[in-house]
Amino acid sequence: MSTDTPPPEALTREAAARELERLAQEIERHDELYYTHSAPELSDAEYDALRRRNEAIEARFPDLKRADSPSERVGAPPASSFAKVRHGRPMLSLGNALNDDDLAEFEGRVQRFLNLGEDEPVELYGEPKIDGLSATVHYHNGKLVLGATRGDGETGEDVTENLRTLRDLPQTLRGADVPERLEVRGEVYIGLADFAALNQAREAEGEEAFVNPRNTASGGLRQIDTALTAKRRLRFFAHGWGEASEPLGERQGDVLARLAAWGFALAPHARRCRGLDEALALHREIEAARSGLDFEIDGVVFKVDRLDWQGRLGAAGRAPRWAIAYKFPAEQVETVLHRISISVGRTGALTPVAELEPVYVGGVTVSRATLHNEDVIKERDIRAGDTVVVQRAGDVIPQVVRVIEDRRPAESESFVPPAACPECGSHAVREEGEAVRRCTGGLICPAQALERLRHFVARDAFDIEGLGAKQIEAFYAEGRVKGPADIFDLEAIDGHAFPPLAEREGWGETSAANLFRAIEARRQVSLDRFIHALGIRHVGQTTARLLARRYGTVDDWRVAMDAAATAASEPDSETEALDALTDIDGIGPVVAKAIVEFVAEPRNGAILDALRERLDIEPLEAPTADSPVAGKTVVFTGKLQRMTRQEAKARAEALGAQVAGSVSRATDYLVAGEDAGSKLKKARTLGVTVLSEDTWLAVASGDALPPSEEAGSEERAEDTG
Ligand code: IVH
Repeated sequence: MSTDTPPPEALTREAAARELERLAQEIERHDELYYTHSAPELSDAEYDALRRRNEAIEARFPDLKRADSPSERVGAPPASSFAKVRHGRPMLSLGNALNDDDLAEFEGRVQRFLNLGEDEPVELYGEPKIDGLSATVHYHNGKLVLGATRGDGETGEDVTENLRTLRDLPQTLRGADVPERLEVRGEVYIGLADFAALNQAREAEGEEAFVNPRNTASGGLRQIDTALTAKRRLRFFAHGWGEASEPLGERQGDVLARLAAWGFALAPHARRCRGLDEALALHREIEAARSGLDFEIDGVVFKVDRLDWQGRLGAAGRAPRWAIAYKFPAEQVETVLHRISISVGRTGALTPVAELEPVYVGGVTVSRATLHNEDVIKERDIRAGDTVVVQRAGDVIPQVVRVIEDRRPAESESFVPPAACPECGSHAVREEGEAVRRCTGGLICPAQALERLRHFVARDAFDIEGLGAKQIEAFYAEGRVKGPADIFDLEAIDGHAFPPLAEREGWGETSAANLFRAIEARRQVSLDRFIHALGIRHVGQTTARLLARRYGTVDDWRVAMDAAATAASEPDSETEALDALTDIDGIGPVVAKAIVEFVAEPRNGAILDALRERLDIEPLEAPTADSPVAGKTVVFTGKLQRMTRQEAKARAEALGAQVAGSVSRATDYLVAGEDAGSKLKKARTLGVTVLSEDTWLAVASGDALPPSEEAGSEERAEDTG
């Protein structure tokens, strides 16, 4: 909104009517950008300002309020009207390398994992990392039958008809050797010349120009009206594949060559590199070519060329171990830092934030950047009024890189960390060994309670349609929702403790009914999502999943956590519950401590129980329930002969087993290699089944039955040598 728009009180009746119309359209457009295309053009504050202006004008001229008024519409149109497509194989993301050493380390990791010698080169296939959005396209007998976005990697959206408008995506594959079923993955993008032409045409029509090519491609692909997709002239580079009815080849490069022969476009400059030096040379070559390309790239992706090796390397979490993105350095720009504000997080951490003169960098306009903590500010002597260098690379949050000291105003002062929480006034303290300062107010601090609620309803947590950060803030301010459990009472208390939601400003019968329905739909929730939603410090989605896998049901988890909390508070007590927690691979002492502290706080326990009463919390399904070792807890000890410990662990986890670090009664199998010591002893004392490496491999691959526990079967570890 430009600063010379007249204030609401200065508008004539006619001007107000025109302005309400403009605002309705404008807000709708931003809603769509935000909710449907995940490509907001406005900051939250700017968006709120539009809505407030709309409300202020409506308050002055109530009879001019439009039928399509934004104040009647809260939250989003449905996140998507596209059908969901579940990917047969997940669409992964990539780990990053930021310098040559990172790439060397990647090569080293691959060599170690595969047990290769250090002088045994790993051939890497390098290709430009296209700054677009990934999509997957299915072919049956050479005909395009289905296309989908990546979505969250597990489930995407059916955008088949949109993808059919891409000129260089084949509808029919060429050649006699096309597999019966084939799924090709790649990147949808918009060429820079096409992007410029599109914006020129928009401006000529009086429309606002698009901000950046990536969001334009992303928004373009997800148009309901495919004619609008076609207008954006999107393109497609193939860079991989999903499921296929037959093996496609032995090497990454060879398969890509076949894809090209079948009709797919491949990004230029891609080639096989023999070892690290050639890979580094390719990275420099592509970086030098970057400015001459007709599409945006942000790095080079290196993939282990041998597909059998890719298979063995597998994935760790959401990223394959066989590929890495070596990013180009981030774009940097200068701007003025107006002041340093303090934001209070869910866990009470006070984070200093740089309030910046808005500046366009790395594809978006940035007006705030985190300064992490007071040490960072001190170290770089960042002050209000400074001219600073800001960078933003891809998905990375904006950063203040450094201060330009000769542009510092004469009267500037060093930053003084706050002694009190700006939200609740409680003492702000910094504990020994911690970089952050924290508010000691706990749940009496509105920021913490509110941040926790925001986290609770976020996309990757409860994800309740129509209940976003804005609505939850309003409910919290009103007292309608004080904690997470209150959300599930909203309908029951509606019209009792609080006036009916439908009568509240900004709501109506329909939107209230929709919200209640959306909340109902979320009463059923998986245990991992539930645990993640609680907002325990250090417990993100991955850790939540580990916990859910280990404990199975919410009741078992609750009991075990209570026991662990007791064990932690009484030094002499039985500590099995606490050990069981730290035994989970991926949960170290810091995370265990955070979990225990969380459940030990009575107010948290109360929230947890209130939620348990209101929800139907489902156990997490084992990932491969049909694998013979799914759900089993395995410990590896001693020196393994046929694979590294890391590979053994990764394979076991891929089959749905849990790998623990030490033997307890909960252990199902101890796999003992050469020179197994104390763990083997303990396993024997506890009667845990002991397997040799060979037997384990046979059991895991389904070639042998697991020895039955009742028979107390034990292989002699000495035989494994
Ligand atoms: S391979 C399993 N190759 O980058 C490996 N990805 O940060 C998955 N991307 O989601 C991707 N160019 O959308 C690969 N040549 C390329 C790529 C590429 C761009 C994107 C892709 C992926 C993201 C990961």
